[in-house]
Amino acid sequence: MENEKNSRGQWGSNFGFLMAAIGSAVGLGNIWGFPYKMGASGGFAFLIVYIGLVAFAGIAIMLGELALGRKTGYGVIGTYKLLSKKFAWVGWLGFLSGFLILAFYSVLGGYTLRYAIGFLMEIFSAGAGFGGLGSGAFFGAFTTNGASQIIYHLLFMGITVAIVMGGISSGIERFTKIAMPVLFGMLLIVIIRSVTLEGAMTGVSFMFAPNFAAFSEIGFMKVLKTAAGQMFFSLSLGMGCMITYGSYLSKSENLEKNAVIIPIADSIFALCAGLAVMPAVGAFMSQGVEGISFGAGPGLLFVTLHQVFSAGMGGLIGDLFGFLFYFLVFIAAVTSAISLLEVCTAYFVDKDVQKGTSGNRKKHTMIVGAIIFLVGIPVCLDGLGAGRAGGAMIDIPATMFGMSEVRMAFDCWLDFYDMIAEGVFMPLGAILMSVMIGWVLKTDVIKEEIEVGGLKMKSFRFWEICFKYIVPIVITFVLFGQLDDFFGLGIF
Ligand code: PHE
Repeated sequence: MENEKNSRGQWGSNFGFLMAAIGSAVGLGNIWGFPYKMGASGGFAFLIVYIGLVAFAGIAIMLGELALGRKTGYGVIGTYKLLSKKFAWVGWLGFLSGFLILAFYSVLGGYTLRYAIGFLMEIFSAGAGFGGLGSGAFFGAFTTNGASQIIYHLLFMGITVAIVMGGISSGIERFTKIAMPVLFGMLLIVIIRSVTLEGAMTGVSFMFAPNFAAFSEIGFMKVLKTAAGQMFFSLSLGMGCMITYGSYLSKSENLEKNAVIIPIADSIFALCAGLAVMPAVGAFMSQGVEGISFGAGPGLLFVTLHQVFSAGMGGLIGDLFGFLFYFLVFIAAVTSAISLLEVCTAYFVDKDVQKGTSGNRKKHTMIVGAIIFLVGIPVCLDGLGAGRAGGAMIDIPATMFGMSEVRMAFDCWLDFYDMIAEGVFMPLGAILMSVMIGWVLKTDVIKEEIEVGGLKMKSFRFWEICFKYIVPIVITFVLFGQLDDFFGLGIF
């Protein structure tokens, strides 16, 4: 058994594991999604809801996933197969989620690389990086240029594949052990610059001011659903990522402690990302710089922030901070992308190991990476909908099914992949996991695994209540909330 483990690979240290797991959690979701969702959904009031969800659902699922992976010693598909014949297919939901999320995540990662390189080139020669275009015009030009998006998507995927090919301790761990502390250092520098700008408080109060009225204006259920969906994606839960990372952990490590540290670190990073982004946006907005507002979605990360650095800060300082910021986002995206790819790679390595061979990780990683790259190409070709002439990508007349209220259209491939993975597979996978462990196999499975190295599971009762009752309720919210968003069902 031990030999089998070794041929799959193992983390060199608990610190290395933590950096990889926090690296998986901290990504575009933290920097892109969290700050504006918090600002738009109640500020400090949203934060309280978010922290409650992390405490009562996020940590419990994290602990469940880590323990399951370490117990079986396999990735997400191998784990579900070994645990239960009836639930074996749930592993495939995780695999496919990782696959689809990475297909669009890598395209966005390519964007961050493009912007980092752009600002770097601007440092040396004005106009070299963005062709002398303003932020909105550049974004428009880039997203309608399929070939250039494909090149950056390829570069991003290539870097991700190269790291995962190196294996667990000498690939993923070696990279994240350096990247995560560097990332945090860069973030602190950007925060200091951001909060010391004139007018920064506008941004701080947009994000942090408690606005309980938002609960009644937006609706408490809607806020809850937004926070729960954000938590899932941000903590990399529900698709077997933490199962896979847990499977490379030694039996002597303390799972309970790790399952608390990862969500806390992720939440701190999300808040820090907000402090890096929002005060700068607020500052230049209040100074009246054109084209800057607290927008949402791709606009905030790429158009608004580009404008913050180029027109707001301006000059060499703007280019330097622009480079630093987009490079930081790029690193955060890479450490998440490698965990998504590892979910897929692990399946093939596990199959080799089960056959008794040592596993050809390099070959598997390259093939899976190449297929994901291909699947991401349509996302590049329609540039988040910008490159699509003539309406939506998929538009099924809902009247055909007698559901005139339902929107059966997707504006772009990214939305479509995201709907399948984040909207359906992830919450479904998580619900089935909590039902399988909590109600079918019984929660002792987790307790035994946590105590296998001689440690006592201190939080068993609390964890059991969270896992059996709170988690299924929260995820049901996420599931219906996502479907509601995508199809406009009008439930919330
Ligand atoms: N947690 C990552 C983010 O916030 C995304 C991710 C989701 C990574 C699922 C792995 C698995 O960007």
